[in-house]
Amino acid sequence: MSKTIAGFSKLSKSKKIDWIANTYFANAENTKKVLKQYWNDNEKLQQLHDEFIENTISNYYLPLGVAPNFLINNTLYAIPMAIEESSVVAAASKAAKFWLDRGGFKTTVISTTKIGQVHFMFHGNFEKLKSFFESVKPKLIADAKPLTKNMETRGGGILDIELRDKTTDIDGYYQLHASFETLDAMGANFINSCLEQFAKTFKTEAIEFSGFSEEEKQIEIVMSILSNYVPDCLVRAEVSCKVEDLSENKNISGEAFAEKFVRAVNIAETEPYRAVTHNKGIMNGIDAVVLATGNDFRAVEAGVHAYAARHGKYSSLSHAKIEDGVFTFWMEIPLALGTVGGLTGLHPLVKLALELLHKPSAKELMQIVAVAGLAQNFAALRSLTTTGIQQGHMKMHLMNILNQFEATDAEKVILIEHFANTPVSHSAVVKAIENLRNPE
Ligand code: MEV
Repeated sequence: MSKTIAGFSKLSKSKKIDWIANTYFANAENTKKVLKQYWNDNEKLQQLHDEFIENTISNYYLPLGVAPNFLINNTLYAIPMAIEESSVVAAASKAAKFWLDRGGFKTTVISTTKIGQVHFMFHGNFEKLKSFFESVKPKLIADAKPLTKNMETRGGGILDIELRDKTTDIDGYYQLHASFETLDAMGANFINSCLEQFAKTFKTEAIEFSGFSEEEKQIEIVMSILSNYVPDCLVRAEVSCKVEDLSENKNISGEAFAEKFVRAVNIAETEPYRAVTHNKGIMNGIDAVVLATGNDFRAVEAGVHAYAARHGKYSSLSHAKIEDGVFTFWMEIPLALGTVGGLTGLHPLVKLALELLHKPSAKELMQIVAVAGLAQNFAALRSLTTTGIQQGHMKMHLMNILNQFEATDAEKVILIEHFANTPVSHSAVVKAIENLRNPE
């Protein structure tokens, strides 16, 4: 049977499933059963999900968890997190509780500017291009008015458009480099629509510009697109307390813990191999909230990692210090988020997540998300520099191993109790299941 098909998107959902199941699977009936068991009985809700993308055949579930007790600028939050990794929500909750007793998290939004660019080719005199740009700039903004009117009424819109000479990188390459304020919208559609309008006006007006030669009039628009690099859409999150208040148990003093913690952060600041994993831990928290609130985690990931490498070497996003007996741990990260538009008004669970967060503005959401990242990083470093990561991680992973072996509820109760004081490893769990099922 051919594994290619023409017009797949035109087929009905059930015909798509038939074709996939019959073409790629040994047991077509079982494949259909697995796909269908994730359909929602509520037909309207299922249709909503079907229509989010093309060629939907089923729904892909992730757990939605909640990490309570987050005190952020003296307001309490229970943070929704959509993530599959067993220990992330538990770690966030632990960090939240730890800092709840020590004054909570402090956050500030530093800036909210987003960037978009029209990339174009021009072969001619740069001075003439500059004077054309200056003369056409008001028209670029005026022609985009139908797109920007509503955003402007609310206080946002186009902030500026610059002409950038990039010919030292590529012969004939220039940009219209535009900055935007998109308020509570992530702004991708707004920015891209404005850019495409700029490109249209720019190209048409160039043909009319009397200062250009015939060749110079032929500006080639290569592409118009927002940038997911948003170093000027920045939020800061911080925790701090007296060093002695860090201690929770007698095994390690607050001072020794703080020093080791700062050392671990210093390592991530200088060593890229460690920095990537350190930042991955931060993104465990960030992505989970970004996803739960219907935002674009790929955009956030791309922008955050680019920011982590902004000095030419990939480095830690977070920093820590001890000064005058006070431990401070903080992070500044770029986050382009929205609380209106996109999925936010459509996906029932996204609406619920935003309501749980007191219906935040985009600025408030930036602060909550940054806190989730910092908390996750704190929890990871705390385990890494004390007990090691596997103790907590494997404890949370225990349930996955039990499920893999189809443990019954009764078996789970016995084995969870057994592993409460025994180190969890895959082989230890397998052995314990075997012993339970086949006692000698
Ligand atoms: C695992 O998902 C995340 C950690 O590796 C982060 C870190 O090493 O800092 C625990």
